[in-house]
Amino acid sequence: MSTITKRPETSRRRFIDILLGTGLFMWISSIIYPIAKYLVPPEAAILYVNSVEAGTISEFPPSSSKIIRFGRKPVIIARQRNGKFSALAATCTHLDCTVQYKADTEQIWCACHNGLFDLTGKNISGPPPTPLARYIVVVKDDKVIVTLEEMI
Ligand code: FES
Repeated sequence: MSTITKRPETSRRRFIDILLGTGLFMWISSIIYPIAKYLVPPEAAILYVNSVEAGTISEFPPSSSKIIRFGRKPVIIARQRNGKFSALAATCTHLDCTVQYKADTEQIWCACHNGLFDLTGKNISGPPPTPLARYIVVVKDDKVIVTLEEMI
């Protein structure tokens, strides 16, 4: 009867092979993982918002404006000289620049290519092809609320 004895050199070599293989795998993973994460970014959470409190009425003196976040979209709230409010999408329909309120002419102006909108959101001059989206402003208990729908 013969017995087979394993030589210690073989098991040492195998151990070194496993160690090097694991190290190589970890090194390649450390390169591939960040590249894959960059190429496939995580999905952004979708925010469904029906109304946003924009502040108190004292924060909106006549002939003033403020840009707020409505979910992920910027909305410009303008208060006219006569005290009326307008709320419109603050992103120009031409090339997505942020618009601003011109108190002297009571219009919404896009500085990028001199686009002009009236306070109903209608595009009145310049390159913007379509009107700005409109929102509804409700003043309730001294609070200015911007909504998608009429509040009761
Ligand atoms: S981006 Fe507003 S006019 Fe061009």
